[in-house]
Amino acid sequence: HSFLVGYTWENINKKKAKETIAKFDTVAKVDAALADLRKYWDTLLGNYTLDSGDEKLDRMVNIWNQYQCMVTFCFSRSASFFESGIGRGMGFRDSNQDLVGFVHQIPERARERIIDIASTQFPDGGCYHQYQPLTKRGNNDIGGGFNDDPLWLILGTISYIKETGDFGILQEQVPFDNDWSVARSLFDHLSVSFDHVIKNLGPHGLPLIGRADWNDCLNLNCFSNDPNESFQTAENKSEGTKAESVMIAGMFVIYGQDYIELCKRLGKTEEAARAQKHVDAMTVAVKKYGWDGEWFVRAYDYYGNKIGSRENEEGKIFIESQGWCTMAAIGKEEGMCHKSLDAVKERLDTKYGIVLNNPAFTKYYIEYGEISSYPPGYKENAGIFCHNNPWIMIGETVIGRGEQAWEYYKKICPAYLEDISDLHKTEPYVYSQMVAGKDAFKPGEAKNSWLTGTAAWNYYAITQFILGIKP
Ligand code: BGC
Ligand code: NOJ
Repeated sequence: HSFLVGYTWENINKKKAKETIAKFDTVAKVDAALADLRKYWDTLLGNYTLDSGDEKLDRMVNIWNQYQCMVTFCFSRSASFFESGIGRGMGFRDSNQDLVGFVHQIPERARERIIDIASTQFPDGGCYHQYQPLTKRGNNDIGGGFNDDPLWLILGTISYIKETGDFGILQEQVPFDNDWSVARSLFDHLSVSFDHVIKNLGPHGLPLIGRADWNDCLNLNCFSNDPNESFQTAENKSEGTKAESVMIAGMFVIYGQDYIELCKRLGKTEEAARAQKHVDAMTVAVKKYGWDGEWFVRAYDYYGNKIGSRENEEGKIFIESQGWCTMAAIGKEEGMCHKSLDAVKERLDTKYGIVLNNPAFTKYYIEYGEISSYPPGYKENAGIFCHNNPWIMIGETVIGRGEQAWEYYKKICPAYLEDISDLHKTEPYVYSQMVAGKDAFKPGEAKNSWLTGTAAWNYYAITQFILGIKP
C-alpha cells in the first residue's frame, strides 16, 4: 500500500489535487518518485563526503548536520516549536552565518540570499537586524543598531566566494535599504560594513556594542526596569555610552583580515593598506584593554566598567570573547590564546559542553539587561550554547590543540549523545540551540532543536578546522 497526503489551495474543482493524485496513483509511481527523491538528496549531500572510519562522525557530516544546515537556510528562525514565527523574519546576523553550512550545497541560492541580505543594509553600513523574506524589506519594528551585524556580511560573502570562485558577485549592484537610487557594488557594501566598526569606536578604541552583539541578551544600553519590555528593541540610555564589545573586536580582526585579503586579490592595494592599519590598531586595543590577565574581557558596560573580568563577582568569564579573540589569534605569540583557552577549560567546560559564562547571574543587573533575567544555567545566562562551542573548537585548532577541539566537538554532537537521550531529550541527530548548563536544575537537558546557527557553525568547525578541508 501507499498513502498519499497532500495539500492544494485550488480546491474548488479539485483539479490540481486530482492531477497530483494521478502522478502517484500506483505503487510503482510512488516507488519511482521515492527513488528520485533519494537520488536528489544523495546527490545534494554528496557534494561533501567523508569516509573517516567513525560511523557517527560520517553520519553527522554526510547526512544530518548538512540536512539541518539546509533546513536553517530555508526556514531561518521562523515558526517552530521554539521560535515565535514570521515576526522574527530573516536575521541579518543569522542568515549570514547559516550560509557557512549551506554554501556548498546550492551556491546559486546562497548567492541570491547574499544579495537579498545586503539590500537591507543602510548606506552607513549599519543594517536592519531582520527582514521579511516575502517583501525582502527590513523590519522597522526592530530596526538596527546591533553593531556586530555588518561584519557578518563579510563572512557570508567571502564564504561564498571561497566555495565558488565567483568574484563576479562583488560587481553586482545592490541597493541600500532597497532603494535603487543609492545602489552600489556588493564590494562597496563590504567596505561600508568594515567602516561601520571603525566609525563606532568607544573610549578604549574597541567597537561600541549598540543594542547587543551576537549575544541578544547582553543589552548594555537598555536599562529596563520592566521585564516585559523587549530588551533587544529598547535603548533607554545610550547618550555618552562607553559600552564596548570585545567580541566584535575579535570579529573585526578576523573579517577585517579577510577583507584585506580580498582587496589584495582585487588589486586594491591602497584600500588593503588602509584597512590593515585599522586591524592592527584593533589588535593593539584588545591586547591593552581586552585582556584581563588570564582571559579576554567580554565587554565594557555603559559606565566603562569591565564585564567578564576577575573584578566581577558574577559573569567573570564569557565564552564569546575567548572564542573570537583566539580564532583571531590575538596575542598568540604572547601566550594569550593558550591562557584564554586554558581558562575556558577550567571555568566553562562541563560534561555536556562549554557554558556561556561563569559564575551565572543570580540577580537582575539593570546595566546588563536580559542576560541577568534568565534562571542560572539556561539560555544566555550560563547555558551551553551549542552555537558558540565551535568558536572554542576553532580557537583550539588555531593553537594546535586538535585533540581538545575534537573532545569539545563530541561533547555536543548529537550522534555521540544517543546513550543519554533520556536526559538530553531532543532528537539524537539534530543540534539544539542550547543544553542546560552546570548551574541549571537539570544539567544536560537540551532545548530548541533545529532552527539555530549551531548547525552551520558545527559543520564549519568540523569540516574546515578539525578535519581541515578548506575551500
Ligand atoms: C532566542 C534566544 C534569545 C531570545 C532573545 C529567542 O528567540 O532563541 O536565544 O535569547 O530570542 O529575545
Ligand atoms: C538566537 C538569535 O537568533 C541569534 O541571532 C543570537 O545570536 C542568539 N540567539 C544568541 O543570543
